[in-house]
Amino acid sequence: MTHPPIISTVRALQAESDRLRAEGKRIALVPTMGALHEGHLSLVREARARADVVFLSIFVNPTQFNDPRDFDAYPATLERDLKRAAEHGVDVVFAPDVAEIYSEGAQTWVDVSDLSEPLCGASRPNHFRGVTTVVSKLFLAARPHVAVFGEKDFQQLVVIRRMQRDLGFGIEVVAAPIVRERDGVAMSSRNVRLRPEARKQARALVQALNAAEKALAAGQRDRDALLAQVEAILTAPSLARLDYAELRDPDSLEPAPERLRDPTLLAVAVDFGVEGGQAGESVRLIDNRVLVPPRKD
Ligand code: PAJ
Repeated sequence: MTHPPIISTVRALQAESDRLRAEGKRIALVPTMGALHEGHLSLVREARARADVVFLSIFVNPTQFNDPRDFDAYPATLERDLKRAAEHGVDVVFAPDVAEIYSEGAQTWVDVSDLSEPLCGASRPNHFRGVTTVVSKLFLAARPHVAVFGEKDFQQLVVIRRMQRDLGFGIEVVAAPIVRERDGVAMSSRNVRLRPEARKQARALVQALNAAEKALAAGQRDRDALLAQVEAILTAPSLARLDYAELRDPDSLEPAPERLRDPTLLAVAVDFGVEGGQAGESVRLIDNRVLVPPRKD
């Protein structure tokens, strides 16, 4: 199968977008950092259902990595990605290099203030500033009608929605559900870096979400009791180090009240040691679920 055309400059992508818009075509953008898996491909399917033309961007964005080792270790699988993109009906792949996206001496950032602070923002300073800056650049380059993001990165989705409203990009931001491996672990490009023992233990994340959902269904409404249960599951595996487990409002990301009444985001992040890694090197896994208290009390 031939690859979809690859565009590597912003100007060429803008020209392609203008041409398609002039033809009355609706354009969807799926931003990724490559190493495509079923989670990414589900976004492509969603995009195809909502537009005439699908742009997929592949750009490992240096400004959103806190740890240069994590950036360097990020899997690069362009040939395979292009094949998968073709199989899934991607029309154009945008794969710029870093110099194309960040001009020499760049000083301009897009920063969504409050929503970027808790959860992943707390342990990864400036991470979301890097995400929102690059997504703005991708929006300006692709000029899509719709852009699709995964609920796997729930806070990212909330931050991008806020950014799109605040800056008035006029782009419809669509959320797609989390795609999981057979054993329930959320698909992630980082899963391949886990050693077999850690990969097994990674099930703790989804187990913790399931346990919280079950407890809620059984009548538990107490925030701290739910969190204690979740934390016990996440700290049990020998290779795991808990980063956070939190209950927050799914829109504002404000901490949940003591007793849960409304739909509440349970978000968790755990670090796992890596195979052959240096001391302190680890893989960070995240997962989440919106818990919906049954409306009977
Ligand atoms: P990346 O981690 O490559 O993810 C690209 C998109 O795929 C994101 O919207 C993410 O939420 C979604 N995704 C990843 N794993 C998923 C899964 N298991 N199920 C459903 N969707 C999943 O997120 C980024 O890249 C970057 O921050 C980016 C937005 C591209 C900006 O650099």
